[in-house]
Amino acid sequence: MKDNPKRILVTAALPYANGPIHLGHLAGAYLPADIYVRYQRLQHCDILFICGSDEHGVAITIAAEKQGVTPQSIVDGFHAMNAETFASFGVKFDNYSRTSLPIHHETSKEFFLDLYQKKILKEKEEQQLYCEVNKMFLADRYVEGTCPVCKDESARGDQCENCGTWLNATELINPKCKLCGSTPVVRTTKHFYLPLGDFQKRLEEYVHSHSEWKDNVQKYCESWFKGGLQDRAVTRDLNWGVPVPLKEFSDKVIYVWFDAVLGYISSTKEWAQRMGSPDRWKQYWQDNGTRYIAFIGKDNVVFHCIVFPAMLMAKGGYIVPDNVPANEFLNLEGGKFSKSRNNAIYVKDVLKTFEPDFLRYTIAMNLPETHDTDFYWKDFQAKVNGELADIFGNFVNRTLAFTEKNFSGKVPQCGTLTARDEEIIAVMKEMPGVAGALYEKFKFRDGTFEIMNLARAANKYFNDSEPWKTLKSNPAQCATTLHICLQIVRTLAVLFAPVLPFSTERVWKMLRVETPLSDEQWDSAGAMKLAAGHQLGAVEIIFKKVEDAAIEAELQKLGVPLENSSGNAQEKLPPVKPTISFDEFQKLDLRIGKVIACEPIPKSKKLLKLQVELGAERRQIVAGIAEHRTPEELIGKSIVVVANLAPAKLMGIESQGMLLATHGDGDAFALLTVTNDVAPGSWVK
Ligand code: MF3
Ligand code: ZN
Repeated sequence: MKDNPKRILVTAALPYANGPIHLGHLAGAYLPADIYVRYQRLQHCDILFICGSDEHGVAITIAAEKQGVTPQSIVDGFHAMNAETFASFGVKFDNYSRTSLPIHHETSKEFFLDLYQKKILKEKEEQQLYCEVNKMFLADRYVEGTCPVCKDESARGDQCENCGTWLNATELINPKCKLCGSTPVVRTTKHFYLPLGDFQKRLEEYVHSHSEWKDNVQKYCESWFKGGLQDRAVTRDLNWGVPVPLKEFSDKVIYVWFDAVLGYISSTKEWAQRMGSPDRWKQYWQDNGTRYIAFIGKDNVVFHCIVFPAMLMAKGGYIVPDNVPANEFLNLEGGKFSKSRNNAIYVKDVLKTFEPDFLRYTIAMNLPETHDTDFYWKDFQAKVNGELADIFGNFVNRTLAFTEKNFSGKVPQCGTLTARDEEIIAVMKEMPGVAGALYEKFKFRDGTFEIMNLARAANKYFNDSEPWKTLKSNPAQCATTLHICLQIVRTLAVLFAPVLPFSTERVWKMLRVETPLSDEQWDSAGAMKLAAGHQLGAVEIIFKKVEDAAIEAELQKLGVPLENSSGNAQEKLPPVKPTISFDEFQKLDLRIGKVIACEPIPKSKKLLKLQVELGAERRQIVAGIAEHRTPEELIGKSIVVVANLAPAKLMGIESQGMLLATHGDGDAFALLTVTNDVAPGSWVK
């Protein structure tokens, strides 16, 4: 194992401890962050993965009021629940802290005081909304009204969720107290402001120096800069949060976003204390050699690309995020669920029925990296059954089962390599580089897709090599085939480990490799490391298929009418076949053919015999479409013909090509024709 001198700090947005973790959370920040960290761990760099619960702010106090309990009891409950959810989903933080801990309060106060003493924070008297019924200032979510920008009627005091504008409560049109519905009055109060405008130039330079950031993140920052950065209040008239560390302001708290982002630092401090070297957090936050990656959802961009960097610049001596891979949103069932029920799928509930890797894989393949995506239960089922089980699982299983049965479970000898052997070995060897390059660019969907493609190619290699035949006819060749397949199983176990940590451990156990999977090296995952003669473990199925009934139960819970669920019509369609190159595609010769004669074939219910004109020549084609079309309907039609398919005999009659039609019955059947009359023989490309 070689040591990698790179040091990386990874944070994932601290989720509010006011509700359970749902699929949107996973897709936004936590799954990509976890895949990235697990991938980098296989690169053996010095990496630290930090998160925790965001326990302050009005999101929490409103939840507490609704349930008639204290904010502390709310956060205690959800912190424990969410920590447990992350652990069982396999998101493996080095530390999962809480912003209500003393270490966090101290860190936030110290930061605040430092900025105060440097006279960076400005004290200002301001007009704020005050509710005379509840006798309180209506900070943030305590007030709702119409957004001055997009006119959405449910904008909150600090932000309009509809258009994303970060607001001052006094800008709201027709504001109402969230607690009692009355119209608040305006009163004067004193607050501290972070003068973002003073940092605009440095922030612009910072963002512009990162042209590699995602487009959506860049554009978002640009629109902020264009509007000109304003002073922002960083204190609130609330009693839940980090108290302002100044005597005359002790009845106020620090604004939740100011303290929350500092939660990354206090969580790192907590980790360092746990490790017994309390100063070690500094390596990650104060050493220019550290690369800091902050995973978030798109609604958090302004706080991570503008506010937090400005705070860190103001404090001095800290590094700023080197990348902020913000994802868009994951929507559910195309929004077709019943709004009166829950509009979220909670991870803890899914894990009661399904394995974490099922969810990790389906979300990884559907990450909203460049645009919003949708989660469909039918798609979940299709991906688990058609890809995890039928492609990866099947390859592992057939390889190990064949070895167990015919080679007493020992890795067979590798003999002389055929061209086919060399081809698949080349694909296996280059895959760590291919997928790794995508992961480095935060393209987890594409990277995972590539790795599944290796499994697809490996299945094809197994089929084409026909080891069940060579077992008798050419045992050395058969041994070589299985030797190579076993090496690929090993490669797949390593490369899939970041996405499928639980199942790959099971594969690893079946391979009986002595070194732990976590000691493997990503870059050399494609090397042929299993020695001939190595004894493999007992074979077991790694992925059990998801039954229709299980999916229907989930749809019912969401209140999605069954016939409405996307995949339904698509359900019986096979998954898209492995990618082919353009060269492979060009081997196909498609032509327009004109049907000049057509007759049924006696004794066959399905077949028709067609005479088709293909320009210079005429072809006889036998097609299984008698149940869908009559000869009369076909004569005179221009159809699409595969012109270079090897001839075949059907019921003793030669067919010299194939016509193209959709695979289906009734309305689902269609013949491919052309929109206007083109000459028979025209080339389709
Ligand atoms: N709690 C916030 C949310 O769920 C995210 C906080 S991220 C942090 O949207 F940086 F402030 F911690
Ligand atoms: Zn708005």
